Amino acid sequence: MSETKKTDDETKKEISNLSRRKFLKDAGLVIGGTTVGSMAFASGAEAQQQEKGDNAPSETTPTSAQSECRAPIELTVNGGRYRYHVEPNWTLRQLLRDEVGLTSPKDWCGGMGACGSCTVIMNGRPVLSCLTLAIECNGAIIETAEGIAKTKHPIIDSYIKWNAFQCGYCTPGFVTTAKALLDRNPNPTEEDVRDALGGNLCRCGTYQQHPKAVVDAAEALRQK
Ligand code: FES
Ligand code: FES
Repeated sequence: MSETKKTDDETKKEISNLSRRKFLKDAGLVIGGTTVGSMAFASGAEAQQQEKGDNAPSETTPTSAQSECRAPIELTVNGGRYRYHVEPNWTLRQLLRDEVGLTSPKDWCGGMGACGSCTVIMNGRPVLSCLTLAIECNGAIIETAEGIAKTKHPIIDSYIKWNAFQCGYCTPGFVTTAKALLDRNPNPTEEDVRDALGGNLCRCGTYQQHPKAVVDAAEALRQK
């Protein structure tokens, strides 16, 4: 009886430790990414591909059981080419996080399309990666916050300069949406920025700072 109780306690402790590790991993990457920029945004998958030093897409090989329901797709993520065999129900967010190894696309609303924390740029437009099926991304060009930081885009420094984040959880979604705005409008007003970022939520309430940061980044881009 006491042995059974001990086992239950141990199991609870293991689950608690796993949850804590997962939370720290997610939070740490966001906060690090927004404060130290490109170094912290670099991912394992990208690093592996860079080490290989070729342009061939990195590839995963499915087992025979998986291959019956998986479909091959090829896509470009932050300038690197990737080939995957994806399940029909995988979301783009799932593919980027679990397969490519990029953790900037977050999940705040449980994949309901309500928070914008999973936003990435797909073929030049901001999309909710939680509502985009991976299988629809064959041939797509994807840009995440990691890629934006890697190119030293002024939006990163501007977010830091204007303190446009607190915990940082929502920040990759804001940054990708803002970068997509700057790509199509090099001289946005604060009102334009508020409109563009209207679908992004921030539980820390940093809303006032985003228009200032994005307009400032636009100015920096124009002076380049
Ligand atoms: S996780 Fe909230 S909109 Fe995608
Ligand atoms: S900075 Fe914390 S949720 Fe936006």
